[in-house]
Amino acid sequence: MATTSAARAHTPRASRVETVQIVLPGLTNVHGTIFGGMLMQWIDIAAAVAAGRHAGGAVVTASMDRLHFLTPVHLGEVVTLQAQVNFAARTSMEVGVRVFAEGRPGEKRRQATRAYLTFVAVDDLGRPRAVPPLVLRTDEDRRRFRDAGRRRAVRLRERQAMKGRHG
Ligand SMILES: CC(C)(COP(=O)(O)OP(=O)(O)OC[C@H]1O[C@@H](n2cnc3c(N)ncnc32)[C@H](O)[C@@H]1OP(=O)(O)O)[C@@H](O)C(=O)NCCC(=O)NCCS
Repeated sequence: MATTSAARAHTPRASRVETVQIVLPGLTNVHGTIFGGMLMQWIDIAAAVAAGRHAGGAVVTASMDRLHFLTPVHLGEVVTLQAQVNFAARTSMEVGVRVFAEGRPGEKRRQATRAYLTFVAVDDLGRPRAVPPLVLRTDEDRRRFRDAGRRRAVRLRERQAMKGRHG
């Protein structure tokens, strides 16, 4: 079956992002390890670019799931972030970001953290707008989509509960 360019453009692979950073002096805390907020900024940016590519326009961060820092990341280390859209609903998308650290370029990487963020595509007035459906090609795409659907259900329950408490 022929693949249309439109369908090809909306696979997780098509909007995938990989960025590489170095932990420079000024980005660390008093322990000589990366400031957590810096890592969160890099995660947010990589994920926003992937979501924006999928949506074909502006997106805003709606939420970031709980973040665990699995291993310290030291001054001078190389940090690689891989972001990809796992799930697209009507106007929102879940983006998964994996973060790896390595002592020197070429050294074995270790996973530093992983994050899931939800972005909403918006129009010029900041109102949610529809995004293209995600085209799932591989078993891995389908597994991530299923898992993301379960996480979305939890998030929406939490959002509902928060609205109930804070209006
Ligand atoms: C995100 C935002 C656009 C949603 O607007 P809204 O009027 O609440 O819109 P809706 O209730 O119709 O929700 C729109 C979509 O976002 C999803 N969503 C909204 N808040 C969410 C949250 N906290 N977590 C996960 N998904 C969320 C909804 O499920 C819905 O998804 P769907 O259309 O795919 O089913 C709005 O809350 C906003 O502008 N927030 C501030 C964003 C911001 O400033 N981010 C930081 C800087 S980028």
